[in-house]
Amino acid sequence: MHNIQEINQAAQYIASKTDAKPKVGLILGSGLGSLADEIKNPVNIPYNEIPFFAQSGAVGHANELVIGDLMGVTVAAMKGRFHYYEGFTLDEVTFPVRVMKALGIEKLIITNACGAVNKDFEPGDLMLITDHINLTGANPLIGPNNDELGTRFPDLSQVYDKDLQAIAQQVAQEKDVTLHEGVYAWWTGPTYETPAEIRMIRTLGADAVGMSTVPEVIVAAHSNMKVLGISCLTNMASGILETPLSHQEVIDVAAKAREKFVSLIKGVLENLSA
Ligand code: 6GU
Repeated sequence: MHNIQEINQAAQYIASKTDAKPKVGLILGSGLGSLADEIKNPVNIPYNEIPFFAQSGAVGHANELVIGDLMGVTVAAMKGRFHYYEGFTLDEVTFPVRVMKALGIEKLIITNACGAVNKDFEPGDLMLITDHINLTGANPLIGPNNDELGTRFPDLSQVYDKDLQAIAQQVAQEKDVTLHEGVYAWWTGPTYETPAEIRMIRTLGADAVGMSTVPEVIVAAHSNMKVLGISCLTNMASGILETPLSHQEVIDVAAKAREKFVSLIKGVLENLSA
């Protein structure tokens, strides 16, 4: 586990690169990183310069932190995240969330590209994450608890913040963007699910399935941060359509959903700046 000195060392390195004091953190999923290109007066910090940060090898992840102004809010945006399936420990996957908290960030907007389990959804749609199911048995908090970082047994009943959800739905309505609500199931990957696994996941009550987000959300909860989760449904999950799943399709559809995704997140930030 990274200790507080290491977390602070990373935060201090980032703080040394800019006078801006980020208030909102953004974790941008596959194909969604271009939101960071909208940031004004950006300071781009490659992950490989930041002490103890990992490097994602996943396609569609640029591996840089971008700090600057977005709709009147100082943000720190992660262009690319680390995945459990890449072989990183969950401590490595969630280290950036610890660092964001150390930088003074109290609100986190976590996004991902994922598969639609709910048959009423369509590829390219957006979903507000209202809750999650951890299917993996893994948890970033397993191990000794550092009481300075958070409590031993964190409550997850309100981790997806109701006020942030209400703002997102209000913005979606104003901008005429369809924003489904649903439960996100975390699957380790890197294989996609089998059709039988998708039937199981649907029966368990999930609307979407993906390979990220839940570890970061758990550490955000441990850190007492407020979370807004937005999924881009890039494809129907296994067995719903006849066609096989491909990562290229995930990237392509996320890119097509870019406009409404960017408009939604910018609207949320505009609201937070007021
Ligand atoms: Cl169908 N499953 C998982 N686990 N992750 C995905 C996905 C499906 N589509 C995009 N990401």
